[in-house]
Amino acid sequence: MTLSSTTSRPLIAGNWKMNGLSAALDEARAVAAALESQASTARVAIFPPSTLLSRLSEAVRGSPVATGAQDCHGKSSGAHTGDISAEMILDAGGSLVICGHSERRTDHGETSAQVAGKAEAAAAAGLEPIVCVGETLETREAGDAVAFVVAQVRESLPASLAGKPFNLAYEPLWAIGTGRTASVDNIVEMHAAIRAELAAIFGEQGKVVPILYGGSVKPENAGEILAAAEVGGALVGGASLKATDFLAIIRAA
Ligand code: 13P
Repeated sequence: MTLSSTTSRPLIAGNWKMNGLSAALDEARAVAAALESQASTARVAIFPPSTLLSRLSEAVRGSPVATGAQDCHGKSSGAHTGDISAEMILDAGGSLVICGHSERRTDHGETSAQVAGKAEAAAAAGLEPIVCVGETLETREAGDAVAFVVAQVRESLPASLAGKPFNLAYEPLWAIGTGRTASVDNIVEMHAAIRAELAAIFGEQGKVVPILYGGSVKPENAGEILAAAEVGGALVGGASLKATDFLAIIRAA
């Protein structure tokens, strides 16, 4: 996939998190079938739990739906019980990977340096990373949100991403799974700051790297969020679990 093909269309990414048994494959099939009968302006990807990645990739093969994993290790193989590598994701049919989701940073203590290592391994293997950043409510209320997120951007992106396809995702922690969405003003302010940092690090490429928003994106607010300045797509959690809701968000792009 060339860089330009990843930057020209919004990316709507469904992060299933730790949800989904075999029956959930039908939701992915329904998304694929709908996009086959009516093309979307958006690129679409589903990130199931790793237990379903291979079967889900097979189920949507040949359709406009890409697949990916929710995390990968920074090494390509070895004694890392419970982890999966970028090569394993490719082998299971995935083409993207989420790196540094706040739930991994919180639940597993992942640091930005580790996230950068994961993004580096992913891109080196040929995966397209989505690197996540976002502040807590405490940080926002202290007035430090922009400085905090910009530092996360700087520390979570390895220089080796230059020239490779990747995405940033801004997900304020207080908007994840809470039903509380950042205001469009919040999003525009933060995405502008992230854009400036990306341009400072990556030059021309940094001016076009997609910046996704995530945090309680739903059919009702997707149109407004996706139309905001510097929003290059959405990272959707809860509303990606049902094909009808996810399709409504895709159609809003
Ligand atoms: P929700 O859409 O459920 O708030 O989750 C957002 C998210 O964390 C996606 O990665």
